[in-house]
Amino acid sequence: MNVGSIRKVLVEDTLLSEARAWSLLRALARRAGAGHAVGKPAGVRLDGAGRLEAVELGMGWLDVYPEADPPFQSMSVLPPAIDAMLKLYLPLCVGPKSSDLVLAHVGQSLDGQIATSTGASCFITGPQDLAHTHRLRALFDAVLVGRATVDSDDPRLTTRLVAGENATRVVLDPSLRGFVERKVFRDGAAPTLLYCRQGSRDETRDYGLAEVVELATSGPVLPPAAILDDLRRRGLRRVFVEGGGVTISHFLQAGLLRRLHVTISPLFLGQGRPGLALAKIEGLDQALRPRVRRFPLGEDMLFDCEFRG
Ligand SMILES: NC(=O)c1ccc[n+]([C@@H]2O[C@H](COP(=O)([O-])OP(=O)(O)OC[C@H]3O[C@@H](n4cnc5c(N)ncnc54)[C@H](OP(=O)(O)O)[C@@H]3O)[C@@H](O)[C@H]2O)c1
Repeated sequence: MNVGSIRKVLVEDTLLSEARAWSLLRALARRAGAGHAVGKPAGVRLDGAGRLEAVELGMGWLDVYPEADPPFQSMSVLPPAIDAMLKLYLPLCVGPKSSDLVLAHVGQSLDGQIATSTGASCFITGPQDLAHTHRLRALFDAVLVGRATVDSDDPRLTTRLVAGENATRVVLDPSLRGFVERKVFRDGAAPTLLYCRQGSRDETRDYGLAEVVELATSGPVLPPAAILDDLRRRGLRRVFVEGGGVTISHFLQAGLLRRLHVTISPLFLGQGRPGLALAKIEGLDQALRPRVRRFPLGEDMLFDCEFRG
């Protein structure tokens, strides 16, 4: 091999394509989910077998600075699409807090609705937000939804629009009154956990391939902290709460969401299903004021809200 070809191989080996950046993000998320998030400045790259390597600064595909904003520096000027991808997703994949990350996403209209009055919600936001939802599924250990979303949308909750693994599917159905023939319980595409109140299980009913998990509760609400504790015991530390509004609101109200992604689509739906429904406050000093970053997604705008308290 002559000097020119060696240089070409070296340059190609350090080039960060969109596919490489996405593989790198997934590997960083896996490491975070295993409890060993990259926490210090380091160069990062994947080896020939796709395994993450943390190397000296300047020696990887990308230099990661977990405490910085944005948390990376590139040796070369990145194409805008890769730069935007890293700015959006890298903060979810590095730093000590990424090992126990709970993030929710909601796609809503300008008048704050996530579905019409009949429950139609496919698709309020555009294709880029849909791909974003699939990326989040791929970056998290568990994807969690409420009973009404499963009843109304019959979602598969798998990663199909981007490369990546399927997360464990989690459904909250406290009284086990949801439709049991839904795909998440039957298709076997990924493990499914079905959380309910202790004593709700009807032994004559067939819950398909789902594992029914009964939680002791003192009221109608399944405490989000108890759900997260149980998921953590199963090694599922990174949890993506995909909806709907009622379910997300329980986690937000309990102070357990680290991040909330709100994608706003420029349309008005009239009275339908509201996005978030939080308890009343009296003064603006009681308002939640997350740190916010904005990302245009086609016609939509994604607000990445980080709650630091
Ligand atoms: N645009 C979007 O981003 C998006 C995303 C997902 C879904 N959706 C749409 O949203 C609609 C459904 O949303 P939704 O807000 O009405 O309902 P949801 O959040 O999907 O489900 C709410 C139900 O789940 C159960 N549940 C959730 N959290 C619980 C907890 N901590 N403890 C006990 N039970 C809990 C309760 O079931 P019980 O009623 O049995 O007590 C509750 O009524 C659908 O039309 C769907 O298409 C939109």
